[in-house]
Amino acid sequence: MTAEPTSARSATGYDATTLASLSADAAEIMARYPDPRSGLLPMLHLVQSIDGYVSRDGILFCAEQLGLTAAEVSAVATFYTQYKRHPNGTYTVGVCTNTLCAVMGGDAIFDELSDHLGVGHDETTDDGAITLERVECNAACDYAPVVMVNWEFFDNQTPGSATALADRLRSGEAVAPTRGATSVCTFKQMSRVLAGFPDGRADEGVGAGEPTLVGLRIARDRGWTAPTPERPEPEAPESEASATTGEPAAGEPGSSAERQPATTADVAPGGKPGTPQAEPDADLDAESGAKKSTGGTAKGSTKGTEEGSADE
Ligand code: FES
Repeated sequence: MTAEPTSARSATGYDATTLASLSADAAEIMARYPDPRSGLLPMLHLVQSIDGYVSRDGILFCAEQLGLTAAEVSAVATFYTQYKRHPNGTYTVGVCTNTLCAVMGGDAIFDELSDHLGVGHDETTDDGAITLERVECNAACDYAPVVMVNWEFFDNQTPGSATALADRLRSGEAVAPTRGATSVCTFKQMSRVLAGFPDGRADEGVGAGEPTLVGLRIARDRGWTAPTPERPEPEAPESEASATTGEPAAGEPGSSAERQPATTADVAPGGKPGTPQAEPDADLDAESGAKKSTGGTAKGSTKGTEEGSADE
């Protein structure tokens, strides 16, 4: 019997070639994790590398591959700002407007770019070239104010340098980041890298520039070292009883009687003060006539299991 083509089993609108390619990449992603559904985040980047955003087809593809519902995939895709629910520009221009960059000029850069491009936050220019964003701290505060183009660094920007950068991007001119890779790739190409398929450019250029290293140099020159973290006190030695049985003696702190819900077999009628009480089963109640059955299992023993199942 001939196997049914993959495309015939998919609710997505991808053509057979695209679907086969996506499926091969998805299999590679899922194989990285003990639980395949852990591959959802890179898989969302993968569909962005094809569609330029997390499309309806992309949502359905991820759901089919991972055995999730479309609603579950959508819930994740709408939680993280790196996933776009509408077509993104070729370049995401992100202006850091977090505290340090903001006071160093980030807010002014964003306002100037917004006026110059005629778009606001998370909006795309008519030519589809640039999506403008406010972004949070990019761990480049020593180069504030920072602008990112598809997550490549453009350090120490001004409103004028940022608008010039945007103009070059829109005209198709090649631009070079201040640090890191020597060029800027497209949003789709970047999304494929974020899906875990390297483009070989990770080690290009300078990673940590002089402002990042100056503190380290000063510390070395002056013999400064990081403080040693306090360690917790070692645990008290085990008692004689525990040394023999591996368990604390009855009545000692940490004994099984204290830390576990007791069973019907080891709780005397009335129980010990402070000892968790089991609720006797119906048989014991019938035999003794002294205990009232409440139907069951000690609290906590199955409740957690049930809750765990519901959460999964
Ligand atoms: S505040 Fe802008 S990179 Fe940290």
